[in-house]
Amino acid sequence: MIRFNETTGVFKLDTKTTTYALRVYQEGYLVHLYYGAKLPDDDLSHLMYRGWFDSLSPWAHGVDDPLFSADIVPMEYPTNGAGDFRISALSVRGRDGNTVTDVRYVGHRIFKGKPGLTGLPATFGNEDECETLEIETEDPVTGVRAFLLYTVFEDSGVMARSVRIENRGEAAVELERAYSACLELPTMDYDMVHLYGKWAKENTTTRHPLAHGIQAIQSKRGMTGPNHNPFVALAQKHATEETGEVYGVSLIYSGNFSMEIEVDTRGCPRLLTGINPTDFRWRLEPGESFTTPEAVTVYSENGLGGMSRTLHRFYLNHLMRSVWAKRKRPLLINSWEAAYFDFDGDKLVEFARAAKELGIEMLVMDDGWFGNRFDDHRALGDWKVNEKKLGGTLKQLVDRVNALGVQFGIWYEPEMINPDSDLFRAHPDWAVCAPGRERSMSRYQCVLDMTRKEVRDAIYEQMVSVLSTANIAYIKWDCNRHITEAASLALPPERQGEFFHRYVLGVYDLMDRITTAFPEILLENCSSGGGRFDPGMLYYSPQIWASDNTDAIERLSIQFGASLAYPIAALGAHVSANPRTGIETRGNVALCGTFGYELDPGKLTAEEKEIVKAQVAEYHKYYELIRYGDFYRLTAPTEDPFVCDWEFVSEDQDEVLYTRVIMRRPENLYQPVRLRGLDPEKYYEDEETGQVYSGALLMHAGLDLSTAGGRWLQDGASLKKHFIAR
Ligand code: DGJ
Repeated sequence: MIRFNETTGVFKLDTKTTTYALRVYQEGYLVHLYYGAKLPDDDLSHLMYRGWFDSLSPWAHGVDDPLFSADIVPMEYPTNGAGDFRISALSVRGRDGNTVTDVRYVGHRIFKGKPGLTGLPATFGNEDECETLEIETEDPVTGVRAFLLYTVFEDSGVMARSVRIENRGEAAVELERAYSACLELPTMDYDMVHLYGKWAKENTTTRHPLAHGIQAIQSKRGMTGPNHNPFVALAQKHATEETGEVYGVSLIYSGNFSMEIEVDTRGCPRLLTGINPTDFRWRLEPGESFTTPEAVTVYSENGLGGMSRTLHRFYLNHLMRSVWAKRKRPLLINSWEAAYFDFDGDKLVEFARAAKELGIEMLVMDDGWFGNRFDDHRALGDWKVNEKKLGGTLKQLVDRVNALGVQFGIWYEPEMINPDSDLFRAHPDWAVCAPGRERSMSRYQCVLDMTRKEVRDAIYEQMVSVLSTANIAYIKWDCNRHITEAASLALPPERQGEFFHRYVLGVYDLMDRITTAFPEILLENCSSGGGRFDPGMLYYSPQIWASDNTDAIERLSIQFGASLAYPIAALGAHVSANPRTGIETRGNVALCGTFGYELDPGKLTAEEKEIVKAQVAEYHKYYELIRYGDFYRLTAPTEDPFVCDWEFVSEDQDEVLYTRVIMRRPENLYQPVRLRGLDPEKYYEDEETGQVYSGALLMHAGLDLSTAGGRWLQDGASLKKHFIAR
């Protein structure tokens, strides 16, 4: 619920668990007051003060308050150069050439529901689920108006924020910083928790204390990249996985992002999230407007786990717009690790036949089906079926696979072009490059200039002319390089600073057109593994390939890390032929994700085939529990060198699936595992042994695996326990 108190000027935005408050102060200054656990108080205006005035902090014109300076109080949407020396959310270069920016309150409206964001992925909710506050602010000198949007999702306990900037002045202006949201906290008693990584080692969790000064995670790769994820949690120092206060901030954006935190000399952190200002500049002519990506914030009193579970449910219900978000998805096998480029139609049909016998429901033909694509040196951009390689048309191949009772999926890398391609020979200027410079190469490929509509149209038409010929059920959308020598030949010099954001808008446009034209196709994103694992992609594709690293032990930290911000239902995870662990453990780890296969089913031994059949049965058995249950990270692989434990609990607390993987056999086998999230009053039966335990016992005394099946577990082994309430 959102309320405005005319007397105090305080806006109070409540969800069922949280309160967010800000205030319209003298002279229209917008001051932040509070974000955290729900408060019953009506008047929160005193929360704006943070100690006595500093002598070097500027006075604010017309403000009759000796304690107020924009440099000291928490500012709701801080601007550049007008009295606040901390990092700013908005910086506009006006007609005079300076970047002094100062927006003040002019009005507001509160309404049920939530508007979409033109051209950008964003959360959604109906009028019963959410309410929106739009605050209008103005900088009278430039005529720039900033509309601050806040949507509260009452039941989810989540807020979504973005900013629309309009130029109502008479001259063009340039946005140099246009962040999506600012979060001001009163103490630095927090650790910064975030996800870093690289190819084949994505989403590793790291945690460190906030320090005075500026700390940031960012991308300037043109895409999110595996190096840092657009997500930050601020966890109170003593907060653990299940206890203590945690703020989660997630940005719905797939390009150059920034999560910037400044802890000022008073020890007050300011967090900004939005487009990375580096290499960003956006020209707004009079009458034009700009919308920032959306930021999502979560507050949890139940540690990092509570924050993750809130985000999981929220993204599943309010971000993943695909019909497949909640529909049962087919169990797939992907050809990549089974064949790489070395396949033909018959081989794929053979994969499908062998897979079908195991119960697998869909075959995905990965890279190598088009143009002259026999290796990764050529043909990106030539999205024409190589009928010679496939031994017929795509329709003929798909029909053969479908006749076996197996669905068919296909791989694309729509944003890329190889210099050795017909497309490049016809349109060399479509490959991104700054004039007068050599293109840096990466995987023998270049990036298509997705800022240009004619480029997007050409790729769209090529895709449609393939997709509409056959019964395609799934697309894997890959993206295997980042952007260098960034420039668009279609943009004038004064708009080159818009390139990176326009690129992302172009990708969203193409993804939107493809998913709108083929709404029944299940889209999975991928970027050299999990290089674009972000909420922007989740809007279009309900699953994202988490990593090219399919080693089950390495996958533990990758999947645990991704689970910090993303639902398990979104984590692309397959059983591959990677031999470090047995196929049982590979299956158990892939079950903590979308689950599928990435191997040659014909090469499995008879014994492995039986195991795969059992795994397929488990995929169906636990489908709902894993997708819609609550996920508990019990022992994280980044914290314990020996074991990794996790658990799913159904929403009604009637069903529990616990899994342990032994990374290294601990010396002491007696290590009871305490389950979480159960109903202490209920009694749970161990499906395997028939033994019954109370929820209280399983949570407080714990489960002794040294006597319950875990005794013989060696390095790389794993076990599961399934409990059902009686
Ligand atoms: C990178 C992806 O991560 C792989 O799964 C595979 O699709 C290759 N690209 C194909 O080139």
